[in-house]
Amino acid sequence: MAEKRILITDDDKQTRDLVATFLGYKGYRVFQACDAMEALEMIEAEDIDLVVTDVMMPKVNGLEFIKRVKAVRPEIVAIVYSAYGNSVMTANLLKAGAFFYLEKPFDLEELDSIIQRGFEHFDMQSRNYRSVPSIKNRSRIKMIGESPKMLALFELIEKVADSDSTVLIQGESGTGKELVAQSIHELSTRRNKNFIPVNCGAIPDELLESELFGHMKGSFTGAVANRIGRFEMADRGTLFLDEIGDMKTSLQVKLLRVLQNRELEPVGASRSKKIDTRIIAATNQNLEKLVEEKLFREDLYYRLSVIPVIIPPLRERKEDIPLLIENFIEKFNRDNRRSVQGFDQEAMAALVAFEWPGNIRELENLVERMVILKGTGTVTLQELPDKYRGNAAKPRLETVPLPHGGICLSSAVEEFENKLILQALEKTGGNKKEAATLLNLKRTTFIEKLKKKKMFAPELAFAS
Ligand SMILES: Nc1ncnc2c1ncn2[C@@H]1O[C@H](COP(=O)(O)OP(=O)(O)OP(=O)(O)O)[C@@H](O)[C@H]1O
Ligand SMILES: [Mg+2]
Repeated sequence: MAEKRILITDDDKQTRDLVATFLGYKGYRVFQACDAMEALEMIEAEDIDLVVTDVMMPKVNGLEFIKRVKAVRPEIVAIVYSAYGNSVMTANLLKAGAFFYLEKPFDLEELDSIIQRGFEHFDMQSRNYRSVPSIKNRSRIKMIGESPKMLALFELIEKVADSDSTVLIQGESGTGKELVAQSIHELSTRRNKNFIPVNCGAIPDELLESELFGHMKGSFTGAVANRIGRFEMADRGTLFLDEIGDMKTSLQVKLLRVLQNRELEPVGASRSKKIDTRIIAATNQNLEKLVEEKLFREDLYYRLSVIPVIIPPLRERKEDIPLLIENFIEKFNRDNRRSVQGFDQEAMAALVAFEWPGNIRELENLVERMVILKGTGTVTLQELPDKYRGNAAKPRLETVPLPHGGICLSSAVEEFENKLILQALEKTGGNKKEAATLLNLKRTTFIEKLKKKKMFAPELAFAS
């Protein structure tokens, strides 16, 4: 893989040097700029992949800087730090396209792991990103997402909306299948007619046929009057067949016939009716596998999947998580008359790291719960339910990759030790007794160490 090129922008030389040295040691190609103007020139000249920047800078501040970077090179990953953060600023930075906001003082290893995550999520798509054309009807798609995968999905929604072809939406539970189906309908010329959803898994088998196609009075016990089915309700509109994988095979045959002939026969009717209904089907099951197992008809599968639309799970587009959270907070504040400002950095980091098996639905439910319980202020890591605190709750002592040319073990160990000592001093505001306790050392041993290392608490703490 090509060497990654990182640009550090900060007017404070000491911080810049420290971060630059550390990232250089981690194997990145590092560039430095003392203000936003110099940085913008360098971005053009040096083909930068990622920027790390301070917020408080003379002339052009970090937020403005990120906006300008994103305007010219949207695929650049931006990581921002500041000692003067608040949730409004964090929200603005994330809105402007920052990948992560770090509060100062921060741990350099933490910065490195955020950088790696940033690359993971932007890197593969960065080349494609530039080629994604703008989405004309973005405002009519009521879905949140700015990751390259979601932009590609919106583009596809726009294209398929423009036709009457059958669409098969596949995606894990809670990824937004129904929302995608609604968006396709909203963007199509059928938008002034009905969008009718049917959950094929929730309606008992024996009722589903009449539910879909309608029935004639007296055609079965309980059929007290003629009734039109959902296909007809969606005439000139869109019928959304959700959980299509749950439909039993005998009904699959009938559905196939309707799709082929564009006409249907209500239960008990002697004549068929023409219909003009667009079909969108969805499933969270692997339909190809069901076809192999003979649980789903192959011919119907091909009929339905004229245009397959696959929604990526949330864990594959983690950069959308802060944006989704921000929107959900706003919505649940509004609905419940609450005024929660946001999640603090640690909580946000844990939520971004989480794998989200229930996808957006799970995230939405968690935010709703936190907004209602918390009411005001900022949600902290400790306030999150246990399962979401995950790795963030455990100490992260990452392994250092052994460079090709080898390493000097004693100085590497020493550096590691120094970092932990500095952190302990920072956390305790320079109180040596408390810092020693954090490191499980006797106070005297700790002071001996500091003397030997010529370390003095406040000056060396990376907190400028
Ligand atoms: N991109 C998105 N932006 C905003 N909200 C979203 C997005 N995707 C999904 N949601 C919300 O997440 C919830 C789940 O979405 P939806 O019901 O469309 O998912 P699904 O794939 O049909 O789930 P299931 O498989 O459980 O039926 C809904 O409340 C929806 O509004
Ligand atoms: Mg659904």
